[in-house]
Amino acid sequence: MPTALRRGERWYETPDVASFIHRAFTKAMGYDDDDLKRPIIGICNTFSELNHCNHNLRALADAVKRGVLQAGGLPLEFPTISIGEVFVSPTSMFFRNLAAMDTEEMVRGQPLDAVVLLAGCDKTTPAQLMGAASADVPAIMLTSGPMLNGRYEGQDLGACTDCRRYWTEYRAGTVTRETMTALEDNLTRSEGHCMVMGTASTMAACAEALGMMLPGGASIPAPDSRRLRLASATGKQAVHLARAGIKPSQIMTREAFENAIRVLHALGGSTNAVVHLPAIAGRLGVELPLDLFDNLSRTTPWLANLRPSGKFQMEQFFEAGGVPVLMKELEGLLNLDTMTVTGLTTGENLSQVVATSTRDEASQWRVREVIASADAPLDPEGGLAILRGSLAPDGAVIKTVAASPHLMKHRGRALVFDSPTALQAAADDLDLDVTPDDILVLQNAGPVGAPGMPEIGNLPIPRKLLRQGVRDMVRISDARMSGTAFGTIVLHVAPESAIGGPLAAVRTGDEIEIDVEARRLDLLVDPAEIARRLAERVPAPAPFRRGYGKLFVDHVMQAPEGCDFDFLRGDASDAVAAARMGRDMRT
Ligand code: FES
Repeated sequence: MPTALRRGERWYETPDVASFIHRAFTKAMGYDDDDLKRPIIGICNTFSELNHCNHNLRALADAVKRGVLQAGGLPLEFPTISIGEVFVSPTSMFFRNLAAMDTEEMVRGQPLDAVVLLAGCDKTTPAQLMGAASADVPAIMLTSGPMLNGRYEGQDLGACTDCRRYWTEYRAGTVTRETMTALEDNLTRSEGHCMVMGTASTMAACAEALGMMLPGGASIPAPDSRRLRLASATGKQAVHLARAGIKPSQIMTREAFENAIRVLHALGGSTNAVVHLPAIAGRLGVELPLDLFDNLSRTTPWLANLRPSGKFQMEQFFEAGGVPVLMKELEGLLNLDTMTVTGLTTGENLSQVVATSTRDEASQWRVREVIASADAPLDPEGGLAILRGSLAPDGAVIKTVAASPHLMKHRGRALVFDSPTALQAAADDLDLDVTPDDILVLQNAGPVGAPGMPEIGNLPIPRKLLRQGVRDMVRISDARMSGTAFGTIVLHVAPESAIGGPLAAVRTGDEIEIDVEARRLDLLVDPAEIARRLAERVPAPAPFRRGYGKLFVDHVMQAPEGCDFDFLRGDASDAVAAARMGRDMRT
């Protein structure tokens, strides 16, 4: 029985004029018939000079190419949208779905037998996984790697945990402008993404736990030569994936997502993963309800002593063994039969990892400083909790390991701001009517409201309280926060206020109660009064009348569904239908 043609072969070897033209125009770039017989490996590169976190991806792409050639493939690099977290406006999240659409269509629309996804900063990693899931062409991910630790006066510095920590002290008047300038020069010593367990590190670790990255790939520092060797190995493995035909839909199963969620909890990782993982899964028809995150949190120990929740940073996590050593500790809780890009199952990959408990005492001690044992965890439960109640009927998220224990059960008076601008103006007002027991509330910062759900959920502590020594208070919003931030911060309140969620009904002076142990978040106002206020609400005018902005606000889903566009979820059967419509659709 004849074997089916590879995707690349369909483009180049179908006996028709289209293939003739494909061959002729590829030869225009200097490739010959020998090249065109090989598996074609796309290198989907999010390099950009406006994205510092992805700035080393050109060098990594060259190393990937070397690996592809060594394994007998033909590497062809192409660019897609890059999203530099701190540079794009209005928010990076606004563009994640656009980047995912770009990745999906360019992977599906070109003659690729497999693709290497080169990502780095917070949004490029989930965007590429979303696109690859929908295109469902064999894919393997390689991230830029974390920056080296910043150094200042003998201390390790972490981006951007220390950006926030020192800026708070600067606002409080305890740090000088000269110190801030020195910190600015010493924070970022190398290329790579943020080097604490922020969103970029979290999503890289989740990609590894999902099985979409070679084991150990998430934590090798960006400038370390071992990352170049990982890139070469990734290129080789892409050729093997092309030959084996292992697709993302065979790797990113519900069981694999459960593994990723357990790793997220054991890391004390970013709240943003609670948005990105459902978005990736949704592309494959896999539902990840918020309650699944909460259930797995209650049965997964927190193991990684990493900032912003703990003490160390990615360099130390790498030296301790990174994600493979963490997953080895969790082995009894993981789904071990899930397929990975190695061509082996998660269990088979972990069988090659030496259990820390069997190592000599000195090396055990070095690992245990950073990655605790499952028998003696930092906390028996994971790092995130899902809250529900009259203020968040569809759920809200809190990073418990980065919160203040004394505020985990708290009742306080709401101090409400209807925009980030109003909050900023009030935050510096030394006469603001605020006490440490108050609860700061920000409305209109969700997926539709902002728009794009910006990372402003770590609302600034009012300067008046900073001067009194207050460094944390309960803050609630429908926004996200950077994975590098910390505090008793309730995020992703759903439904968001801009579409009429109860958050829109909160008024200054109302009482709010948070009880993390009971997983409750309640507005202590009579339900009839809440309904009356919401009925009187006047929705804001649509922020966009045309273009991508209009597409975004018309179709973005709420945080629990991952903020994907409603028309992008589910399997990609439309692509199959499109392929049947025209003979040149070579999917
Ligand atoms: Fe890119 Fe932090 S700004 S990972």
